[in-house]
Amino acid sequence: MPHLKSVFKEQPELAGFASNVDAGIVEPGHAELAENLLAEDQHHLFSDWDAPGVKDAEKRRFLDTLANAHRSYPGGLPGYISNARRLLAEASAGANPFEGCTPVRPDLADLSGFGDEYEKAEAAGLKCFAETAVVLVAGGLGERLGYHGIKLDIPVEVTTGTTYLAHFASVILAASRRLGRKIPLVIMTSRETNEGTIATLTANRNFGLDEDQVIILCQELVPALSDVGGHLALEGKYELVLKPHGHGDIHMLLHTSGTAKKLAVSGVRYLLFIQDTNGQVFNAALAAIGVSELHGYDFNSIAVNRIPGEAVGGLAKLKKNGSPDLTLNVEYNQLDPLLRATVSPEGDVPDSRGFSLFPGNINVLIIRLEPYLRVLETSQGIVAEFVNPKFSNASRTQFKKPARLETMMQDLPKLFTAGEKVGVTVFDRAWCFSACKNNLTDAAAKVAQAGPPESASSAENDFYLAGRQKLRMAGMTIADGQTTMIRGIPFTAGPRVILRPSFALTIADVRDRISGGSLTGGCTLVLDGDVRLENVAVSDGAALSVTAAPGTDIAIKDSTITSGPAFELQELSDAEMKSADVPEYLRIRGYLIVDAGAKRLSASGTWRVNSTGDFEPA
Ligand code: UTP
Repeated sequence: MPHLKSVFKEQPELAGFASNVDAGIVEPGHAELAENLLAEDQHHLFSDWDAPGVKDAEKRRFLDTLANAHRSYPGGLPGYISNARRLLAEASAGANPFEGCTPVRPDLADLSGFGDEYEKAEAAGLKCFAETAVVLVAGGLGERLGYHGIKLDIPVEVTTGTTYLAHFASVILAASRRLGRKIPLVIMTSRETNEGTIATLTANRNFGLDEDQVIILCQELVPALSDVGGHLALEGKYELVLKPHGHGDIHMLLHTSGTAKKLAVSGVRYLLFIQDTNGQVFNAALAAIGVSELHGYDFNSIAVNRIPGEAVGGLAKLKKNGSPDLTLNVEYNQLDPLLRATVSPEGDVPDSRGFSLFPGNINVLIIRLEPYLRVLETSQGIVAEFVNPKFSNASRTQFKKPARLETMMQDLPKLFTAGEKVGVTVFDRAWCFSACKNNLTDAAAKVAQAGPPESASSAENDFYLAGRQKLRMAGMTIADGQTTMIRGIPFTAGPRVILRPSFALTIADVRDRISGGSLTGGCTLVLDGDVRLENVAVSDGAALSVTAAPGTDIAIKDSTITSGPAFELQELSDAEMKSADVPEYLRIRGYLIVDAGAKRLSASGTWRVNSTGDFEPA
């Protein structure tokens, strides 16, 4: 072999590997990579190899895995190992990343109380949405939820069964039609979610989005490290230990795939980063984009008011002598000690409203593309990696189990150097964030400790709540139904309100389309498309579902809907909770909703309900 260097032959433990190279089991490209890795002190990867003919398929798979990890990381495996050594040395020395930093409240716009400022921001954001691409990070394993499928396939509500992906796509579709511009949707998948995501998109014809509007970027796993020397960990002689690198991979993929640049060329100015199971995000996203535009924020985090000590990262501006200010997410268990060591001996204390000065990060980010491209170029998209080894010896050199480098998408500001403006926009919590992260047992335990459940049921409950909030802001009278516990999680009977993005994208839209009327208790209202309601009441237990197809419009006037019971909520029995015959998306919430006779209307025109309860032309 011409490029087989003598290094393989000089060392007895590499003789087996050398014979595999000679026999052609190891391709030339793989041999070259092996040479590079030997130069990085990774001899253990190629030591004591079996003779050619023994376990050849495993050897090839191993080399393919190494080559794939090498290809996927800017700087290849030598780059990864060198970054790992640096970070592991810091971790071993117990370096404090916040040394010399003083935390102060970040620059922020507080829209948690809605009002004029909110609506001004929302109007500005709607315009900018035409120049925005939505970036959905959906590569997570969802271990806490334990759902056996991709999370994007879970319904955000089970009245009509809209899944998270269908919901996100419907916002993008409605906004694209309204603004006359195809808004791109970038989805980051992973090994675990890629196939399922593509299958769902294909089966649903991209939910109406054009083929070229949806871009999939698949993240790869990274090799784990077995010690501070940055040696890649093995599970067997021919098996590398691989682990997720984290959602910060999105920055790397947007860079290495050329997507970020292409989006800029196509006229995109903002990227909106969203998570896979936060169905509330588009209630707040337009206003937040508007804040970015009006305040000139290069990086804007949507945030919520946070109670001191709550297990949510706090957004803080860190001041340090001789360095530019840095607004960052500081993990809650680091924030309190940092405050105690600097400006607040009592730690993270409440203000007059009971909230911390440091709003809670929910990882919805709006990043201006121009400075972002600059940062991607200089960093190659590798954003503030960190490593979190659990040391097993006093000298902090050995690990209890292999560690890996990780990256989080919210850490991008750590790479800002040119005076980029970083800000925060605070919203009412349930309005902007209610994720489906936890299985029912863990969620109920969180409720018992006065924490947010973040279950499928609480996410659905908040989805309806936001619908009610919008109708209230439009002047409808809403009488909430009773809140009861379903398997330890609070759930409000109603009104269950679903306002499709084709009906309204903004609060101003809702106001335009609703005048007067009322909703009572456990009723349901679903509005889809160009629909107007004037003095329409839906009684407790009744349901109205109105769908205007694109290009048609429907108005209903002076009517009371009393049909019922409709969209009845039925709790699952213990036997049903265990039964494989009951869909898992119901078992993760503990109930189903049955349509027992909702009043439906899809014919265009202006209607009212007559004395026999039927629609007649108004
Ligand atoms: P979460 O931590 O909420 O989701 O990630 P998870 O990792 O799926 O859940 P657990 O921790 O295993 O229970 C926040 C967002 O980041 C994405 C998730 O899909 C979610 O949208 N994510 C997370 C990625 O895209 N890639 C990752 O490597 C990790």
